[in-house]
Parts: sequence; C-alpha cells; structure tokens
Amino acid sequence: MSRKFYITTPIYYVNAHPHIGHAYTTIACDTIARRQRLLGTETFFLTGTDEHGQKIERAAEAAGKTPQRYADEVSAEFHELWKRMGISNDDFIRTTEERHIKRMQEFFRKIRDNGYIYKGTYTGQYCVSDELYVDGAQPGDPCPTCGRITETVHEENYFFKLSAFQDKLLELYENPEFIRPEARRNEVISFVRSGLRDQSISRSTFTWGIPVPDDPKHVIYVWLDALANYITAIGYGSSHAGAQEAFKKFWPADVQMIGKEIVRFHCVYWPAFLMAAGLPVPKTIVAHGWLLFEESKMSKSRGNIVRTETILEVMGADALRYFLLREVVFGQDGSFSFDALVQRYNSDLANGLGNLASRTLTMINRYFKGEVPEPLPELADEVIRERAEKLVIPECNQFFTDYHFSAALESIWIRLIAGVDKYIVTNEPWTLAEKKDEQSRTRLATVLYTAAEALRIATVLAYPVIPDASARIWTQLGLGDIKQFDLGKLSWGQLAPGTKLGEIQPVFPRADKSAIERMQKMEEEHRSTPVVDAPPPIAAAAEQPKPALAVPPAAASTANDKISIDDFAKIELRVGLVKVAERVPKADKLLRLEVDIGTEVRQILAGIAEAYAPETLVGRKVVIVANLAPRKLRGMESNGMIVAASLEDGKPVLAGFLEDVPVGARLK
Ligand code: ME8
Ligand code: MG
Repeated sequence: MSRKFYITTPIYYVNAHPHIGHAYTTIACDTIARRQRLLGTETFFLTGTDEHGQKIERAAEAAGKTPQRYADEVSAEFHELWKRMGISNDDFIRTTEERHIKRMQEFFRKIRDNGYIYKGTYTGQYCVSDELYVDGAQPGDPCPTCGRITETVHEENYFFKLSAFQDKLLELYENPEFIRPEARRNEVISFVRSGLRDQSISRSTFTWGIPVPDDPKHVIYVWLDALANYITAIGYGSSHAGAQEAFKKFWPADVQMIGKEIVRFHCVYWPAFLMAAGLPVPKTIVAHGWLLFEESKMSKSRGNIVRTETILEVMGADALRYFLLREVVFGQDGSFSFDALVQRYNSDLANGLGNLASRTLTMINRYFKGEVPEPLPELADEVIRERAEKLVIPECNQFFTDYHFSAALESIWIRLIAGVDKYIVTNEPWTLAEKKDEQSRTRLATVLYTAAEALRIATVLAYPVIPDASARIWTQLGLGDIKQFDLGKLSWGQLAPGTKLGEIQPVFPRADKSAIERMQKMEEEHRSTPVVDAPPPIAAAAEQPKPALAVPPAAASTANDKISIDDFAKIELRVGLVKVAERVPKADKLLRLEVDIGTEVRQILAGIAEAYAPETLVGRKVVIVANLAPRKLRGMESNGMIVAASLEDGKPVLAGFLEDVPVGARLK
C-alpha cells in the first residue's frame, strides 16, 4: 500500500524576524509530519518564506538594503532556525527562487488561458501590512484586520473572476473537512454567502514581484504569488518529468496549516485560483489560534515578540514543543509566559516523563543488571496494560488525527505516566528488592517490566511532539532508532524480556527559577538592541504620506461609520511642546522628536522629515495622540503620534493653535 501525505506551513514574510508564533505553526506541522512518517506514510513537509510585495520592498528600503539582499538575510534566519530546532521539513521554498518564479507564471498563464483573468482599473483602498485590498473602504479608513490606515490605490490591474466561484466554493465548504475547526468554516461560509467581488491580482506601481507573463509592467499580486508556493515547490509548472511526477503524487495537499488571520486567503482565494487552473483543492485547511504575549497577539509590529532562540538556549526545543502543544488548546488563542513554560517543563517533563524514565531504568540496571526482566502479570499489572492498550493508544491516535494535541498529551501524561507513577509507588519495587524470596523477585520483575513497557509506549506516542528526548529514552531502553518503529503496530508486550538497556542519562534536568530570569533578561537585552525593523504604520504613512493621525479625515465619514462621543473620548489628544527634533540616520522621511506633554517628555518618531526641517520644529506646539500604544521603529520606541493634515500633494501639515495654549492641555 502506498500512502502519501503532504503538509504545509504558511510561508513566512521576511519583513520580520522569526518568533515563537512562527515556530508554533511549524512545530505543529512538524509533529504531524513526524507522526505520519512513523506510521509509514510517504510524507512531504514544506515550509518557506514569502519575499515579494510592497511590504517587503518598503521594509528593505527602511533597512537601507536591496529587497533581494534583505530577503536573503531574513529568509536565512528562518532556514537556520528550523535547522537548529530539528524541524523535519523536506523542502524550504523561497518565492524569489527561479523555480518558483517560472512555475508561478505558468500557474498565472493557465488561469488566464482558462478565461478567468481580465484587465481593468482598480480604485480603492489597500493595506500594505496585510497586503490586502480592502473592499468598500474609503480613503483614510483603517484596515479592518490590523487597524492601520489604508492607502489609496488607483492603477491598471489584472482582475481575477472570483465572482464566478461563489457557488462552487459554497459547495466545497459542504465538506466539513475542508476548513477546520468548525468556527472558522462558519466564518468563511458567511463571508462567501455575502457575495464575492472580482479580485485584483496584479500591481503596476512598484516592481518587487513576479512579472505578469507577457506584460511585465505588472507584477503579480503577492498573495497569488505566495499561495502558489504550495504547488510550485512540489513541481507544478515544471517541464521536468521528475517534478511532474512529484506533483502528481503529492497534490492535493493533505493538510495546509495556517493562523486564523489568513483564513480568507487560504479558504476563499486559494481554492478559487486552483479551480480556475483546473487543479484539485487541498483536502484540509487547518487554522489555529494566536499565541498571545502580554495579552495581545505576538507580532513584530506590536514589538511583543519572544524569540525562539532564547528558549532553545535555556530550555531546549522539546520543552518549547511540548509547552506549546500541551498548553494551548489547538484552534484557540493561548498565552505564552516564561513562568508557565518552566512550570510545565518541571511538572510534566522533568518530574513526569523524565523521572519515570530515570527511576525505571535505574532500577532495572540495579536489580536486573540492565536487562529487561521477564514478567508474570497479575490483575494489578493488567490494569496498566489495559489502560495503555484499550485507552491511551486509541485515544491518542484519534486526538492526534483531529489536531487535538493537548488532549493527546493529556491522555499520555495523565492516564499513562501518572498512572504508572502511582503503580510504582503502590508496588514499592525497592521494598520487593530487599526481600530475597522467589515470589518477591517475580513481583519485582513484573513491576519493572510493566513500568518499562508503559514508558516505552508513552515515549513513542509522545515522539512526534518531543522527538529529541523520545529518541534518547528509546536508546536508553535498548531499542535503537525510534524512527524505524512502526507506530501503526504499537501494542503492549513488544518490549522483549532480555533487552539490554543502553547507557542511562537524564533527559530532562530540572529547571530552577534562574531559567526564567535568564530568558527574560535575554529578551530584554535583545529588545533594547537597535535592530532595523520592518516599518510600522507610521513609517508606511511617511512613505505614502497619508494622514499620520488617528482620526480619519471628514470626507471619509459616511452615515454608517460615525463614531460616538465615547469613541472619540478614547483618543487622548494633547498639546505638546517640541524640545528636540533630529533626523534619523538612513531614514529619509523620519524625524525623532522629544515632546513635552506636561507630565512627561515623550520620544515620538514621525514621518514628516520631507515637510519639516528639524530645526524649525524645536519650540513649536503640536497636537499629539498621547494614549497610543508605544511602537518600536528602527530600534527606537515611538511613544505617541503627531497629528497632521494630509494635503493633495501628500505633504503633512502639522496641527497648531492661533492662541497660546498651555503644554499638556487636552483637546476634546
Ligand atoms: O501571513 N500566533 O506571513 P506571516 C500564532 N506570508 N501563529 C502565528 C503568530 C502568533 N502570534 N504569529 C505568526 C503571512 N504566526 C504570509 C503567508 S502563505 C501563502 C503566506 C504564524 O509572516 C501563523 O501561522 O505574517 C500565521 O498564519 C503565520 O505565522 C503568518 O506569518
Ligand atoms: Mg502576519
């Protein structure tokens, strides 16, 4: 029987350095891929980086690098991190690779030849951060997903006839397996039911992208370019026989895993593009929740990220993998904290699995010269066997199949590991060892066999989640390479009496409080090191001088987007006095200001350098939004926003007063 399994992560944008949010998806996919391989399935696991588009072009510019060089550097960070973590991906695709570009263009051609692409003019709003056309938005409106002010795009584009796929998509969603979990499926269905507009799929006002075949003035819309990675990586559009075969074998994908914020791209646009090209759609798109840190979605632009490297260095990859999959209910949002990580590690890995392994193996060493003893099971021992065979193995299978990682781990840890711990305590093998009669010796052999066999089963069931530690326990059990084991055949009693144990070494040494402090310190130090970051909203506003302010211009209000006085009251506008103004090296449009707002002096970065010389600003009174969450820009914190009017030519004009006003006065 030849079974195949193809699983993908999203390809990550190179405008941000990898953080544990990216690691989360990659770990979940790695776990699934490892489990499939252990079941004997021919598995292909793909990840990679998304490198084109306006967002990357701007990030590169802000970093003072060419887009290609910038993409090369950040892509390498992802690549190296996955390697260091032992991620088992079979390929790593970059959208700037020749193989992707050529094959992607084939995909475009195919859709065009099939009559689903036409030329038109797009006038509307665009969110660069999400690379999203925001339907129905007015100039100055914020993006509905990220809240950043959208930019107006007016240009000749190619359009995709998305509207032609509404019924076919709704039909597709009737299969409950297509989008998981259910909550996401319902959202998508109601979105598609409300009607689909044709989608612009090219841009013509910048160049960092894949040229439209036969019309290189246009670059292909970055989401179409990026989504195609899932097929180009395995050979779509190639003329090589081998690549074509691989594509035939692995497509459609079995699981495409994503975070919930990119569901629409994957569950609406992606299947429509595939249908338009006459290709089958993936079997399942699985959307997980967000990893939160300090209560909001961990993301580069919020500056609240935790780097994977820190955790790897202090706790190891298995600790992170276990924590994320055990602690977060898959599909829901979950919080990360160093405290919780260390607590989980100690209770479940050091005291749980690690302790079971070391006490069991040490006793076999001591009492049976390192050879697995022959059991003579009684009822009390059969209880453990039954629990493993009838409960934990099938339950675990089901939970893993359903992506309920936390439930699968709970089953292994609570039912099996904790059960065996109790069994050992009740049966007191150390007391049995002191008695020299035949019966006690047999009991001792049985208890230790039972413990070792339960340990073996727990170890191999947990392998996809904690591959490194499991492999080590496996060799300590004298069983060789765990990857060679056939998980589909797992049953009680496979551990042969007489098996010689390997050398015993601790797998999960206890972590103490200093581990938490070390990790916190490493992250703090890293945050305060100036690194060139992706441009947060204010820089984007500076490049396309849209209003760098929180309040949309009057023209943007329509009857249904009026706000209440309470909404307005949430915005704390204050009079500030500019104390210091200076240019930011290598950022043409940015000024660094120190603004006195009465109670304190704030550092604010503003995209107004093209309109104001810094020396003209010192001593001037300005209006600032004082209660905006601080953001990091070019390694510096921007703590507030300056209010300016946006004119036709795009130059900002600072708000000011005709009468004298006290510093710190509130505007309301
Ligand atoms: O969206 N919690 O790339 P991206 C959980 N290039 N998962 C998180 C996370 C968090 N806080 N932060 C990131 C893109 N992720 C596009 C995708 S695919 C054709 C193109 C994970 O760099 C999660 O999987 O913004 C999320 O969907 C993905 O990283 C977004 O990565
Ligand atoms: Mg994102």
